[in-house]
Amino acid sequence: MATLTLLRFFLLLLLLTVQVESTNLNYTTDRKFSSLRLQRIQRHLDNINKIPLLTIQSPDGDLIDCVHKRKQPALDHPLLKNHKIQRVPSEMPKGMKVKEKSEMGMGMQKWHQNGTLCPKGTVPIRRSTVHDVLRAKSLFDFGKKRRRFSLARSDAPDVVSGNGHEHAIAYTGSAEEVYGAKATINVWEPSIQEVNEFSLSQIWILSGSFDGSDLNSIEAGWQVSPELYGDTRPRLFTYWTSDSYQATGCYNLLCAGFVQTNSRIAIGAAISPISSYDSNQYDITILVWKDPKIGNWWMSFGDGTLVGYWPVELFTHLATHATMVEWGGEVVNTRANGQHTSTQMGSGHFAGDGFGKASYFRNLEIVDTDNSLSSVHNILTLAENTNCYDIKSSYSNEWGTYFYYGGPGNSPQCP
Ligand SMILES: *[C@@H]1O[C@H](CO)[C@@H](O)[C@H](O)[C@H]1NC(C)=O
Ligand SMILES: *[C@@H]1O[C@H](CO)[C@@H](O)[C@H](O)[C@H]1NC(C)=O
Repeated sequence: MATLTLLRFFLLLLLLTVQVESTNLNYTTDRKFSSLRLQRIQRHLDNINKIPLLTIQSPDGDLIDCVHKRKQPALDHPLLKNHKIQRVPSEMPKGMKVKEKSEMGMGMQKWHQNGTLCPKGTVPIRRSTVHDVLRAKSLFDFGKKRRRFSLARSDAPDVVSGNGHEHAIAYTGSAEEVYGAKATINVWEPSIQEVNEFSLSQIWILSGSFDGSDLNSIEAGWQVSPELYGDTRPRLFTYWTSDSYQATGCYNLLCAGFVQTNSRIAIGAAISPISSYDSNQYDITILVWKDPKIGNWWMSFGDGTLVGYWPVELFTHLATHATMVEWGGEVVNTRANGQHTSTQMGSGHFAGDGFGKASYFRNLEIVDTDNSLSSVHNILTLAENTNCYDIKSSYSNEWGTYFYYGGPGNSPQCP
């Protein structure tokens, strides 16, 4: 009987072409997938893609599902069975105003160009497709970030040497209690050489040990990830884990966790417009901070527009506070063909090139015990190989603490 069933699956082998639209990349692969695997993928997608009240077709090909906010994936989390969705945090950091509605986010996402918005009481969620999952190494890996390995130094930030992840980051030095972080991040479209590489620019809010299995991390920023999205557009993303990127957590709303409250900002959607070399510059502002009364970690976008929150129940160490913040770029270099790949970080230009050419993070701030935002001082910077990607920090009255970062990847200096 089992043999017969198995035989039937082999007979039903399907040929699927995973085609990804791109100007500079050809991700077309012809692979065979068993119908058993496709059934498993479909079951997973039926779980995470909720039945929408309305679906909006974005000009970039994304489908944005407007899902009733009580039906969103977060509430499938076993610890959130009886969760009451918070409409607003108990407090914004001192000096910030709560904006439940704002026009700020309007021009900032590609799908807004459709002209239709999600109805009241719903949240926009980028629909995942079979092809999205098929690009991942496995169903388990879909939406997850692979484990980062730390340097042996216990005072060093969580960086990788050996599995291809490279960074150019600034980080808070002393192990102080941190309750949030903010930055304004320049948006570019770095090119990616290989489908399974990515380039991101983000804030990390961390607690726990870098070399143990209990690192808690909340991450947000923009990323270009052909594997995750099937294209090379920079997209707004979030990430969380409470066990060092092992079993818990995921990108965006690809697992139960992040509770979205905003009906205009879709996490995982393409950002528009983006900066161009020596011409118009665009940036996004992200603030993540801990609600001082309830304990949830909230995220706001732009000028204080609330996006949603990570419920305190998701975390162990971050249930109390963070101990480190990192800001900056991360890429994966797979060393395809035995060379450093030409995957770019930031704008693809080195920090020294400055405004309009190199990518920047400006107005780096942290939230302290008192729920006050203030400019971060005494940051440290780190780049594993400055011949490939580098970082240069500085201070000005207008930009507070800021830095330029990035690079082209492969070059004669970065072989
Ligand atoms: C992409 O690669 C596939 C398979 O190698 C090939 O058939 C196809 O013509 C290529 N497409 C482009 C646009 O180069
Ligand atoms: C907007 O989305 C709707 C629903 O998916 C679709 O029918 C329509 O063609 C889209 N409009 C534009 C301008 O993309």
